[in-house]
Amino acid sequence: MKQSIHKLPQELQNLIMTAHHVSVNKKIPAYLVGGFVRDMLLGVKNFDLDIVVEGNGIAFAEEFARKTSGGLTTHKRFGTASVIVGHSFKVDIATAREESYPFPATLPVVTPSFLRYDLKRRDFTINAMAIDIGALHFGACIDLYHGKEDLAAQVIRILHDNSFIDDPTRMVRAIRFEQRFGFHIEPHTLRLLKKAARLRMLEKVQPQRTRDELIVILKEKNPMHQLQRLEQLVGVSFLIRGLRFTQKSRKLLAAVEKQMSWFASMHAHRRQIDQWLMRFMVLIDALDLKDTRRVLEKFAFYRGEDKRVLDSKKAAARYEKILTSSALSASQVYSLLEPLSYEGILFIKARSRHARVHAHIEEFLQRLNGMRTHISGNDLRLLGVEPGPLYQQVLKKVLAARLDGFVVTRHEELELARKLIVRK
Ligand code: CTP
Repeated sequence: MKQSIHKLPQELQNLIMTAHHVSVNKKIPAYLVGGFVRDMLLGVKNFDLDIVVEGNGIAFAEEFARKTSGGLTTHKRFGTASVIVGHSFKVDIATAREESYPFPATLPVVTPSFLRYDLKRRDFTINAMAIDIGALHFGACIDLYHGKEDLAAQVIRILHDNSFIDDPTRMVRAIRFEQRFGFHIEPHTLRLLKKAARLRMLEKVQPQRTRDELIVILKEKNPMHQLQRLEQLVGVSFLIRGLRFTQKSRKLLAAVEKQMSWFASMHAHRRQIDQWLMRFMVLIDALDLKDTRRVLEKFAFYRGEDKRVLDSKKAAARYEKILTSSALSASQVYSLLEPLSYEGILFIKARSRHARVHAHIEEFLQRLNGMRTHISGNDLRLLGVEPGPLYQQVLKKVLAARLDGFVVTRHEELELARKLIVRK
């Protein structure tokens, strides 16, 4: 395995060697584990190191952070820590632990343990390999479940029959890895997955955990395949009873992907949109406002996220009609779209086939959205206006006139502002 380590980018090799030195100095056995090992064997880039130690994980992490000048976050209760090194690297360090599940789909009881038990509690054979980075066997691969064979055979396989019952989010993970790597879920694992799906196990999990796995799958590179497979094997009714990822959803997703690519190519300098959130909007497009609220509350999406989803849901149906009108002025388009998020605006565009809706939205994103007045509050102050709500009202009207082309220069804006102030 030493050769594989030597093929990694130099910075990663340095981090691994630092972890090795900490392990030697502190006499704490340490191992690379999980997705990092899988990706290293596959030759896939992964800058998130996962280290498990047999001993005090926090003490190990403190020393590692000191040596790498990394930013340390510790979770003493769980014996885990993260170290952020530079801009690109995240190193998770954990004390090896054993898990038992007193009840299905609940959080496990965790006790400190040895590597072999830590590997035993994991999801799939390809994620349950480790590489020794300690003193004696540096570079040795620990592969108790034949993960390497399964990697070569391109197979997703659970470690024991109760895996999906213990942790039903693994159903989503199995699909995610299968679709990401173009692997297949081996027949016995598939049977057990389908059984857990029939038992609606995903509905028994703490909603936030399901939400986190859903977000991760929505961030994958091939969301269409991911969601089709999710619909086929598990369904999406865990979000709310009756919900499906239909032919209509697929069409909408394709349109959304197209609009997101368009936005990325036209607006590279703007803030990046949250692509996963738009895909989530597709998933719940069939829901009315009340059910949308229920889903957002149950899965405890963050404030900024649920606002964007709700605003776009409210706007979508109404604005799609209004925006078909040829009589809309630029300032009217502006006042409709400006309060919405980019995600919301692009979603409306994706939902509509109407050329004028597209034209209005493109006009907004390409021209109107960046426009500002030449004059500012300071100019109004110099015109003798007392600070107060009048500032906003006047500036808003001047901007509208500028958007519609009635004023062009700073001088014209000032003239208009004067007239508006006198009229008040
Ligand atoms: N794991 C698990 N069961 C879960 C979640 C995680 O057994 N429900 C284990 C797996 O060994 C996994 C590791 O924890 O490899 C890290 O989990 P995570 O970071 O979610 O996934 P990665 O395998 O690193 O995959 P990705 O490339 O998507 O980050």
